[in-house]
Amino acid sequence: MLKIGDIEMKNQVVLAPMAGVCNSAFRLTVKEFGAGLVCAEMVSDKGIVLQNDRTLEMLYIDEREKPLSLQIFGGEKDTLVQAAEYVDKHTNADIIDINMGCPVPKITKCDAGAKWLLDPNKIYEMVAAVVAAVKKPVTVKMRMGWDDEHVFAIENARAVERAGGQAIALHGRTRVQLYEGQADWDIIRDVKQAVTIPVIGNGDIQTPQDAKRMLEETGADGVMIGRAALGNPWMIYRTVKYLETGELIGEPTAREKIDVSILHLDRLIALKNEHIAVREMRKHAAWYMKGIRGNARIRNQINECTTRNQYVRLVTNFAAEIEAEDQYANHVG
Ligand SMILES: Cc1cc2nc3c(=O)[nH]c(=O)nc-3n(C[C@H](O)[C@H](O)[C@H](O)COP(=O)(O)O)c2cc1C
Repeated sequence: MLKIGDIEMKNQVVLAPMAGVCNSAFRLTVKEFGAGLVCAEMVSDKGIVLQNDRTLEMLYIDEREKPLSLQIFGGEKDTLVQAAEYVDKHTNADIIDINMGCPVPKITKCDAGAKWLLDPNKIYEMVAAVVAAVKKPVTVKMRMGWDDEHVFAIENARAVERAGGQAIALHGRTRVQLYEGQADWDIIRDVKQAVTIPVIGNGDIQTPQDAKRMLEETGADGVMIGRAALGNPWMIYRTVKYLETGELIGEPTAREKIDVSILHLDRLIALKNEHIAVREMRKHAAWYMKGIRGNARIRNQINECTTRNQYVRLVTNFAAEIEAEDQYANHVG
């Protein structure tokens, strides 16, 4: 069971925070596919403190998404604490998460994200200050270290625990690795053994079986799934079911993928507006279409869509073509 502070998740499967992806439209969809916990995309502490309109829009949470973890990032104590206080008082997030993993230079050069991993004392100081300022449970998402020579995962995790952090999500890669190589799951096991707060393992879970293996090999309290859920909320559902019953549910059909992509688009339109949503949908559509036979032929056309109607017409025709081809193949076969 996964429990963070007083919040009990209904299962151990967590949607990873993903910038530009995990807004309310996607999170709600993933939630409906059974996720125990959904994480929002990272939000700038300074954006919150300066009350930037676009940043504040990112704090929108639909009640149906809960329990939800909202992640903030920053490099300075004052603004981080102020942002956390704002999230604590003015949002319906259940958990406040601090980003200590983002490898992007724009973030690390401001001493935010993965930069913290070099200094357990700073982690202690920052987390303690946030914990003291808010009522909601505070958690941390981190990479295992900065580079191979600086893997302080255990010291860093202990610092989070001492400071009053209530859980740690650990991605088994260093900052320097970005997304290369394989995630190290041994370090997840080592961290789990070093602290008493819940540890959520993350990195390279591509199948429901991977999730089970990670839980077994590391003893982690939860599994966090990122890239495998892009355009694929079924990955969450299939993992939940596999962990609960051992049953491996099949992959969705082309029609199912396309129908959920339309639902996702409609939610993006409600959240933003049609113009922005249809453009934002392009990358999601490419992920939804992944694995569908002949998807290359509509990918370019999707990238030219500017309205919902165009998108819906295009993808429903595509689904119908695939079904007709399948029927023909079954008939002939
Ligand atoms: C598009 C994208 C955006 C991401 N944005 C964030 C973020 O905002 N905050 C964060 O802590 N991690 C972020 N990550 C990292 C993921 O949460 C996760 O740690 C990483 O993808 C490894 O898990 P996976 O192998 O299941 O994808 C992002 C990853 C991707 C692919």
